[in-house]
Amino acid sequence: MVGTDRPISIAPSVLPADFSRLGEEVIALEKAGVDRIQWDVMDGRFVPNLTFGPDVIASTRGLVSVPFEAHLMVEAPDELAARYVEAGCELLIVHAEACPHLHRTLGHINELGATAAVALNPSTPPEAVRYVLDLVGMVLVMTVNPGFGGQAYIDTMEPKISTIRRWIVEGGYDVDLEVDGGIGPVTAAGAAAAGANVLVAGSALFRDPEGLGHAVDEIRAVGSRAARQ
Ligand code: DX5
Repeated sequence: MVGTDRPISIAPSVLPADFSRLGEEVIALEKAGVDRIQWDVMDGRFVPNLTFGPDVIASTRGLVSVPFEAHLMVEAPDELAARYVEAGCELLIVHAEACPHLHRTLGHINELGATAAVALNPSTPPEAVRYVLDLVGMVLVMTVNPGFGGQAYIDTMEPKISTIRRWIVEGGYDVDLEVDGGIGPVTAAGAAAAGANVLVAGSALFRDPEGLGHAVDEIRAVGSRAARQ
């Protein structure tokens, strides 16, 4: 396995959070030691679910200091990008499958002053990002089909993770590799060993009977060990 020498970061998905107490949940995530917070933005078109608008994210921005990233699972990311930057997201993730002119879209996000990132759905080959690694700060390899939390990790994505990690290293790019979907204390090992260094977890964090902090520490420890084997 390729592994990685980049530090392992934990990025919680707030999708499983209690939306009636979203501010408290965001504060609890920061206290639990997460490295950033991922907002799963869904438009009910690109994926069947509908979630957060920019105003919801903006309402929690002042509560914590950890970076926000917006995972734009939307059909028209170019039209929405600026609003999520204004809402306080430092990093925007667009789907290659939603961007006919991906190179231009990533450049647009960089011009907005945010860090651009690109996500690949499970069936999308790694070649979709081969010629934009110079424009992104991160590549997200989805390890579920996007739309809902609580799905099973798709381990056949691990060769794709390794291929992209090899391209990043060979090209000398300063690019994180994130995985999202079904990540927990067991599956984090395979993902990190394959080369992922940013681990998105939703259910595994919020369902841990020992609490958010325990889950964050456990997943980070498992990922860190596996990344360096
Ligand atoms: C799926 C979302 C994921 C998901 C992660 O469409 O993008 O972020 O919420 O949730 P778990 O960790 O429960 O798979």
